[in-house]
Amino acid sequence: MAVGIFDSGLGGLTVLDAVAKKLPDLPLAYYGDNAHAPYGVRDADDVFDLTCKGVKRLWEEGCDLVILACNTASAAALRRIQERWIPPQKRVLGVFVPLIEALTERDWGDNSPPREVAVSNVALFATPATVASRAFQRELAFRAIGVDVEAQACGGVVDAIEEGDLILAEALVRSHVDALKRKMPRPEAAILGCTHYPLMEQVFRDALGPEVKVFSQANLVADSLSDYLERHPNMLGDGKASVFLTTGDPAKVSDQATRFLRRKVEFRPA
Ligand code: DGL
Repeated sequence: MAVGIFDSGLGGLTVLDAVAKKLPDLPLAYYGDNAHAPYGVRDADDVFDLTCKGVKRLWEEGCDLVILACNTASAAALRRIQERWIPPQKRVLGVFVPLIEALTERDWGDNSPPREVAVSNVALFATPATVASRAFQRELAFRAIGVDVEAQACGGVVDAIEEGDLILAEALVRSHVDALKRKMPRPEAAILGCTHYPLMEQVFRDALGPEVKVFSQANLVADSLSDYLERHPNMLGDGKASVFLTTGDPAKVSDQATRFLRRKVEFRPA
């Protein structure tokens, strides 16, 4: 049994870490497409092709279920993957829905009509491609009414994190939060809609101020995966070992991952 976790680079490790804590006996196969990150400035066809390649590689590791721990791939490619590409015995799930269910205080799979929810001013921080797709607003509209979403495309943040330049990443986060606040001075909630951003969560919190509730995906996705696997134990796959794969430079990616996760992580070439 193994579950696959896919990201354009290092960000999905935030999801992997939360899943590993929640389900310590579950082998996880990680695929970071570091050679092609960031996805956030690519077009939808490109993101689709790269994502399918990564998902297929995770199937080879014995994963029948793959989590796209990448909002950009979830926004730009997931629907096409689910509707037109995936064979019947495999599943690919994204990371938007658990976040939106938490924001709208819904239980897993609650498909009742959209209703008013506690928050009305929400700031969304995401990559340029995720913001352009409007996928977040679309999913939210299925569940909630009267929520004003102001989206901020956070250009450069993923690149800086991938390069290990956290000083630049911090400066960019602060300037993106300022830009958002000029458009929406008092958000009640903020969505970190990119799995790289929890690596800068403290900076987002600090720049937003204590009155803003920050939603970040890792734990929400881990909870919903655990729930999904209880209901679909057949999706556990036949992979036996945890493995970390990258299309980038394994030594460099291992160093960065070890620093972010604060435990030794060794990537192999994908
Ligand atoms: N972690 C990816 C996401 O959640 C980053 C996308 C990118 O590579 O730009 O969107």
